[in-house]
Parts: sequence; structure tokens; C-alpha cells
Amino acid sequence: MHSHAYNTLDPVVEARVAELLGRMTLDEKIGQLNQVSPMMYVPPAPGADREAPPTFAPVPGVEEQVAAGAIGSIFNVADAAVVNRFQRAAVTGARLGIPLIVGGDVIHGFRTTFPIPLALSCSWNAELVAQTARVAAEEASAVGIDWIFAPMIDIARDPRWGRIAEGAGEDVCLGSVMAAAQVRGFQAADLGTGRRVAACPKHFVAYGAAEAGRDYSAADISEVTLREIYLPPFKAAFDAGAGSTMSAFNDIGGVPASGNRLTLTQVLREEWGWPGLVVSDYESVRELIPHGVAEDLKDAARQGLTTGVDMDMVSRAYSTHLRALVEEGRVAPAAVDEAVRRVLRLKFALGLFENPYVDEDRQAAFQLTETSLALALQAARESMVLLKNDGGLLPLTPGAQRLVVIGALAESRLDALGCWAFFGRAEDAVTITEGLRAHLDGAGPSFVPGYALPGSTTIDLDAAVAAASVADVVVLVVGETQDLSGEAHSRAFLGLPGRQQELVDAVAATGKPLIVVVMTGRPLVIPRLEQQATALLVAWHSGLRAGQAVADLLFGVASPVGRLTASWPRAEGQIPVYYAHKSTGRPAGGDGTTQFVEHFRSTYLDLPNTPLFPFGYGLTYTAFDYTDLKIAAEVVGPDGAVSVSVRVTNTGARAGLEVVQLYVRDLVGSLTRPVRELKAFARVELAAGETRVVSFAVPVSDLAFVGVDQKWRVEPGAFRLWVGPDAAHGLEAGFVVRS
Ligand code: GLC
Repeated sequence: MHSHAYNTLDPVVEARVAELLGRMTLDEKIGQLNQVSPMMYVPPAPGADREAPPTFAPVPGVEEQVAAGAIGSIFNVADAAVVNRFQRAAVTGARLGIPLIVGGDVIHGFRTTFPIPLALSCSWNAELVAQTARVAAEEASAVGIDWIFAPMIDIARDPRWGRIAEGAGEDVCLGSVMAAAQVRGFQAADLGTGRRVAACPKHFVAYGAAEAGRDYSAADISEVTLREIYLPPFKAAFDAGAGSTMSAFNDIGGVPASGNRLTLTQVLREEWGWPGLVVSDYESVRELIPHGVAEDLKDAARQGLTTGVDMDMVSRAYSTHLRALVEEGRVAPAAVDEAVRRVLRLKFALGLFENPYVDEDRQAAFQLTETSLALALQAARESMVLLKNDGGLLPLTPGAQRLVVIGALAESRLDALGCWAFFGRAEDAVTITEGLRAHLDGAGPSFVPGYALPGSTTIDLDAAVAAASVADVVVLVVGETQDLSGEAHSRAFLGLPGRQQELVDAVAATGKPLIVVVMTGRPLVIPRLEQQATALLVAWHSGLRAGQAVADLLFGVASPVGRLTASWPRAEGQIPVYYAHKSTGRPAGGDGTTQFVEHFRSTYLDLPNTPLFPFGYGLTYTAFDYTDLKIAAEVVGPDGAVSVSVRVTNTGARAGLEVVQLYVRDLVGSLTRPVRELKAFARVELAAGETRVVSFAVPVSDLAFVGVDQKWRVEPGAFRLWVGPDAAHGLEAGFVVRS
């Protein structure tokens, strides 16, 4: 996929920027730094149909402000005629005719809604992820969106945090691969609209480290952790060509991300030399006041602009106070010029001066295409993760068993879409019952809601038990509605919402085999459900074709390939639980220290440390065996690579795909190191009985970590290495990096 890049300086663009900047007044410059949402979401009336599309109402006065050159960007307007109206106001109304840049939250698809990003990351398929981003960009640019506020690339290790749904999970290596893939897709060079789209990787930075999993709360992390865990996906996104980013809501060790000189200026500009545009998150400049670092909006404006936030989303801090701050000498004119330069740079690079308007006929003619729907189906199939399949219950043979489907989510179109599906339409979604019926020539299965949506606080045990009693196999669909994850939707209890577990208990008591399908926006705490399930499939919130994908997997038309990218805790008390944890001085598996009568170790009295399901875990309909792990050289130099090979055999009776994962551990470092870190992976399709030698060459430079001096370094010494199916298993070997 050929993609545009906006992460370097183009002399032609720079000349045009300089020429235009030289003609701008201070007010016109400040106008470019002001982003406004001209449409405001209208909350549905109580009792309204929850599957009805969201409605928006215009904000008065915005068009006039655009015509006066007081606004440089608008967002979340998804209508070509409306975009063109605002664009005409900018191009023909304002003195210099600078076009608007139009943003939009196209997080996992536009009209073709794909699986939520956490689900999609479980495909471990970067090319697929890039293709979904490209389709999203194509559909979004058709309505005039040039700037997609995605990918969300916040590393997240706390499933209480609702926004874990929007990212690629807990791992830096996988998260970086997915970040780059999405940027390439969004910025694809061959969009049929003839327009360009800029990605906006977010939220810069460490937003996923929210204390206690509560959205917007503090990220009290060390600078080493900031640099080693939370910054690398952004570096990968920028290296893939991203020319903008969005500053986050959270504070980082006491300094809010939207007023943070270390991250916004020292890292972005001085260390990385990145010339892109920083837009704040929604009012995050004004929020420097409730953070307690700014006395008032004027002080917030000063801090935001001078630390490196170029554009102010919605808070009007810049449009209200920047002129006075410059006149009072508290903000240097050059700082304003540099921010405006970054805005103009992106607008020129997107071709907006030459092509500001969007073709309204294209939107009028828009239809979901077979191609995009086929991609939505493939994405849903590859996102789902099979966590249990006792006795090989799955795949089923269509018509061989009397099936019953229990669970209202099996009929929900809206919840299949997931969070941040603003532009998707529930009516376009296929439900699980529809998907199953398509395999059964419409002859069943019977369906019993079992619980009511939303909330699942109303349950009907009798009907569910009666239906299960006359079935051979029960497909039990449980989990979260789409409004329980996403922004500002953190949960302290991560079990099944409402009274669903009571329903599961009643149905399980019938003794019938249970195929449990879990729809969710996050890892859940389901140890009891895991015991009760005969087969357990995580369907996430997987978009327009989720229902068909579930059915295809249950009937074996497709095989499960998904692997978890975020650990599933046994209990909320374990959180944060993730595989790349530190050893501690008294590791759980070690001898501990016998200070009194018992061995003191870093463990719980009431739970193992291990998650219910580890990072990288997922079953298929076959089985794989690893043998013959070989390291080409057990001693490698600092400029070399660790060359590894392993034989992987499909020992089952069906073809299947294995995600072969390579982890390392640095045994001794100047700082403590994780017990495992993913460094490479390969998706390998094997026919039944087939054996393949899978090889990796991991550059020694990839073994670097951030030292106490905040610098990346590789330290010589002994390492361990594992190659296997997930973060908890694999063949082990050792090697040494010499100095
Ligand atoms: C929201 C989100 C951010 C989104 C922005 C614009 O609060 O934090 O991800 O892009 O505002 O809608």
C-alpha cells in the first residue's frame, strides 16, 4: 500500500507556507489555531430507540466566525454539503481564503464499521488493519473529512479503563506495528475520492496509564516508563508518516500532557525532530485550570501554546487570549508563527488550497460495497479469539444439533458496532442469530433473549431454561453493550453486566453443552463463566459483519485465528496484570526469602499472579507443536542480529494459522527488566500435518532499553529467549550479547 507521509519538510510546501504566513495578521494567525465543532450531539430522549442513529444540532455563529477567518478547523461534520458550506465561508469569505481542515473521529471505520481496535489488534495482521484504515479513509474523505483523529495508540494495561477498547492492548511491540499500519492505511495514496487524509495518532501521551483505570486520571509514571512503553508507538506512527498528533487529557507525573514541555517540545521537536501539528484534545487546554496548573483560561492558553500545543480544540483559549498574551510579551510572536506554520504545512500537504471542496454527488451515491463488507467480515473473523473448546465441541455441523440461542446481545445490531461508531448505522449490521440462520437454511435456531438490553437487570430464567432443556447445544451470548466501553466509560467491576451471570448459572444447570459467545469492549473478569463454558469465543464488538463471523466460526466455515493482545484478569484485584511485568526481588516462582516460617514472595494469598488468559493466547481448530529451536550464534555482537529458527507442525486434522511469537528477557541490566518482551511474531498458515521452519532475525538494537540517563542503550550480557504460541509458553534458549 503506497501512502503519503507528512512527517518531513517539503521545500515547496515550506516556501508556500512562508509566503502566506508573511501576509497574515495576528488575528488571522490565531484563527488558524482555533478548532471548533459546529455540530453538537443531541442526547436521545428517554425511551428512544437505542439503535436510532445519533442526532446533531448546529452550533450558532460558527459559519460567520469561519468567514471572518477566526476558525482554522472544524470537526465531526460528516456531510459533504455542510462541509462545503463551511469551506466556502473560509475560502470565499475570509480575506486570505485559507481552507479549513476538517477532522473526524473515524476510529474503526466510517460507514463500514470494523471491529473495535482492541479486537482488530487480536488479528496480529498488520496488512488487514491497514486495509481497514484505508477503507475508512476512503469513506470519510467522501464526505469531506481530511483529518482522521486516529489511530488511538495508547498502550493500555488496565481493563477498567473504557478506552482500552480503542487501542491495540498492552504490548509496545505489537502496538507499534498496529500504529504504523493504521497510519499507512489512513494516508493511503490511492483513495478513490482523489483527496488525501492525514492520520492523527493519539493521545499524546501515556493516557492509557490512567491511575485506577479511571478515565482522565493521573498517569504517575517514571520518565523511563514513559519513554520505553508509551512513547514508542508514537515514534512508530510518526516514522510511518503521520504529520499530526493529539495531546492527551491526563497529567504525566504532575505535568498535564496538554501543557508538557518535556513531551511536546523536548521529545517531539528536539529529540525526534518531528515537524508535525499538535492539536489538543477536547478542551484539554482549558482543563489545565481544573488540573490546577493554570489560574485561568489566559494562563492555560499561555501554557498550552508555549509548551507545544499548536491548535486548541474547542476551549477558545487561544482565540480569546492569544492576542493579549502576545501584546503583553508573555507569548512570543515567533511561537504563534511556528504553530501556524504547522497548521498551514498540513493544509498545503493535503492539497486543500487546490481542492478545498468535496464532491457532493459522491456522497449522494454512496453505498456500502461488497468489497468493504467482505473486508468487514474478514476483519471480524480474524479479530475473534477462541479461549476454550472442550472436547472439540466446535466447529459444529450445521443441522446436526438442535441449537438454541440465548442472550439479547445475539439480536443487537447497535452493540455489534462498538464504541466510537458515530458514523456507522446499526441497520447495516448482521446479528448473530441472522448469521446462524444463514447457515441453517433459515430453519432455526430458536432464540430467547434471556435478559433485557441495556443493563441486563431484567432476566427471564424460566424461558431460557425451558429453551435450553429441549436443545442439544446452547449458544449463550453475553457481555457488554457498546455503551459500557469507550471514553469516560470505566468500570470498577468487570464481570458480566447486570444479572447475566444468574442467567448463565440457570442455563448451565441444565447440563447442556454451552457455547459462550462474549461480546465486549474490554477484557472481562469471567472465571466462573470460563468454568461453565464448554466452548468460549470472544467476539468483542466486531462491526457490521460480526454476526456472520460468529456463525462462520461456530460452523467452521472459517477457523479462529485471533490471539489476545491484552491479558484477561482472574479478578479486578490483579489489575494491572500484564505479561511484561518485572521480576521483583522475591518473584512468585522463586525461593523468596524465609524471614519467618514461610517463604515471602510477590504473590497473593487468594489468587495466582497469572491472568485467566495470557497475552498472545488463542485456540484454533487444530493444534501446533514446536520443536527444534535453534539459535544460529549463541554470542552476538552489538551490531548483529539474533537469528533463531523453530519447526512448527500442524498436528491436527484441519488447516490452521499459528501466530508464532518470539520473546526475550534481558537477565541483568542497569535497570530492572521485564520477565518477557515480545520482539517478533509471524503468522503461519499450515495444512494438516504440515511442518514449517519459522525463522526470525532480531537486530540486537531491538534489545535496547531506556537507562537511568533516559537514553536508549543495549547492554552486553546474557539473555533468555522463547518462541511459542503465547506469552506463557514456548521453547526456551539462551544467548549472549557481547560488548
Ligand atoms: C474526545 C476524545 C478524542 C477525540 C476528540 C474529538 O474527547 O478524547 O479521542 O478525538 O474528543 O472528538
